[in-house]
Amino acid sequence: MAAPAVDAEYLKEIDRARRDLRALISSKNCAPIMLRLAMSTHFTFLPEKTTMQEPLKARHPKITYADLYQLAGVVAVEVTGGPTIDFVPGRKDFMDSPEEGRLPDAKQGPSHLREVFYRMGLSDKDIVALSGGHTLGRAHPERSGFEGPWTKDPLKFDNSYFVELLKEESEGLLKLPTDKALVEDPKFRPYVEIYAKDEEAFFADYAASHKKLSELGFTPP
Ligand code: HEM
Repeated sequence: MAAPAVDAEYLKEIDRARRDLRALISSKNCAPIMLRLAMSTHFTFLPEKTTMQEPLKARHPKITYADLYQLAGVVAVEVTGGPTIDFVPGRKDFMDSPEEGRLPDAKQGPSHLREVFYRMGLSDKDIVALSGGHTLGRAHPERSGFEGPWTKDPLKFDNSYFVELLKEESEGLLKLPTDKALVEDPKFRPYVEIYAKDEEAFFADYAASHKKLSELGFTPP
């Protein structure tokens, strides 16, 4: 086994932060925003500091922001009923962003999704599995111009995003153009069909893809 990148004290602090995050996310119902933030840091490189993260950072000053954001994403999935995602600590905080990225544009189609995700070394399967993160949360008109949740229970992590996606119309539920792209593209669609039928297959692939995403730019020991 390779040498750990962090010492035993840091690992203990991660455990404490994990417990704090479980309590915080459950009591504030903020799993969706925590997951979105963890995901966003890979595109914008500048973690938006939120009123939720600052007290956590203050309680666990040793832990880097990068680890804290990724740990929050992992815990958000776990406490809402999703798969357990392996978390390896040791990310460093970079003050200067190497390049300014942008979040994927929700108004676009398959080629845009591929351009953005392939650049990060992710595959078609990763794109579909990770899009399943929209099982949590909702869009807000004042933020994105889109409105509503993707599923009937936006605080439960399950495969309902894919079930809804295969329906022609889901009343009151949101389908972004990039969500629709997953059923329209012949290479994406088979994954949507598998995940809609088989939640365990979705959970296994989601956990693997989320781990990949959470370790971009970081080589675990
Ligand atoms: C929310 C787009 C991928 C997790 C949103 C919103 C948009 C969006 C437009 C609504 C923002 C708002 O109005 O508040 C996209 C596009 C993606 C993508 C175009 C490309 C595939 C992902 C991934 C994840 C994710 C990979 C995580 C694995 C979330 C979550 C929310 C969200 C949890 C809800 C946040 C809340 O409830 O406040 N996304 N997203 N998204 N996204 Fe994505």
